[in-house]
Amino acid sequence: MAIVELKDVAKRYDSVPGKKGAEHANAVEDFNLTTKDGEFVVLVGPSGCGKSTTMRMIAGLEHNTAGEIRINGQDVSDVEPRDRDIAMVFQSYALYPHMSVYHNMAFALELKKTPKEEVKKRVQEAAKILDIEHLLDRKPRALSGGQRQRVALGRALVRQPQVFLMDEPLSNLDARLRVEMRAEITRLHRRLGVTTFYVTHDQTEAMTMGQRIVVMRDGRIQQIDTPYNLYERPVNRFVAGFIGTPSMNFLQADHQGETLKGEGFSCSLSAHQRTALGDAGQRPRCWLGIRPEHLHQVGASSGSGRLEGVIEVIEPLGPVTMAQVRIGETLVTAQLGAHPGIQIGDTLTLAFDPDHVHLFDIDSDEALGVAEAPSASSAQATA
Ligand SMILES: Nc1ncnc2c1ncn2[C@@H]1O[C@H](COP(=O)(O)OP(=O)(O)O)[C@@H](O)[C@H]1O
Ligand SMILES: [Mg+2]
Repeated sequence: MAIVELKDVAKRYDSVPGKKGAEHANAVEDFNLTTKDGEFVVLVGPSGCGKSTTMRMIAGLEHNTAGEIRINGQDVSDVEPRDRDIAMVFQSYALYPHMSVYHNMAFALELKKTPKEEVKKRVQEAAKILDIEHLLDRKPRALSGGQRQRVALGRALVRQPQVFLMDEPLSNLDARLRVEMRAEITRLHRRLGVTTFYVTHDQTEAMTMGQRIVVMRDGRIQQIDTPYNLYERPVNRFVAGFIGTPSMNFLQADHQGETLKGEGFSCSLSAHQRTALGDAGQRPRCWLGIRPEHLHQVGASSGSGRLEGVIEVIEPLGPVTMAQVRIGETLVTAQLGAHPGIQIGDTLTLAFDPDHVHLFDIDSDEALGVAEAPSASSAQATA
């Protein structure tokens, strides 16, 4: 088991040949994080934000160009990947096609000259955990995608590493299998308690699996927090829009006295929000963020916030219905009940509780008046 520490870590790739003088930013910048022993940390963000680069630096497959990476206190800059006691699982599992499942799993141990009996014991244990004991004699081509992914996990498992790195390991699986496997990986983690970094671009995967989640954008950490804190206390508009599905709605609002107003909506402000905003003269405008699940049909809510627009899209999902309502240039998504009794073209009035809205600076996109989270201290202590 292990504590992994990244301190001011950065990665800058050398310029692409032939593109002399081209502007290029660091792939990763100012990355600071200390895991707890046995923690499951998820890195999430859009494609190209530096997730894989960070993982490859922890694994030792890339050198960090700045900062320090420590595992259990030891600086690993000069430790070869194979000596870091880390096992990686990638999106492309690249099993050896000519080897049986057993030998695919045993291979790394055999390379290290592990005694035969020990190899056998570990492979069988891992196969049992992953429910692939009956597949040990098969070749990879005779396996389904999900089974291959299990073998890839098994290959990492038998090494009994002190850190697991998983880079989008479920991306090649169909949606249903992904949901199954993510629960399985979570169970596996709980059982083994190995410190794990897990990369995904899928916020649902991040929210359901991560004990802590690192939200990244353009090589920079935006926020490190628990799933609930990310959802309830996003630090900026990027995190607010990235976490939660469907995404938070954003409306440009005029600040007038004790209310926020705009085309088709108005919202009274709490004392706390007024303090956060400052006076209207200093901050005449801001972003108002409202999650779809906090917009209700009038009658279902007594909230004093009001929003009105014309229904353009209705998406029945079974337990809930998503309605998209046009307000000027903006399409606002509201999560309504199973049978909202609405029609396209209707004007819909929605109510919301001002306590549930998020406010962001109009220029910097930073959240205004985010209340201190009870459990944020753990994230801050390591930030
Ligand atoms: N070998 C490389 N040489 C130059 N640039 C790279 C290399 N690998 C990645 N990058 C760049 O670094 C950034 C981060 O990439 P990556 O870590 O793969 O992102 P992610 O895994 O989040 O999709 C991207 O802009 C990518 O183009
Ligand atoms: Mg990647």
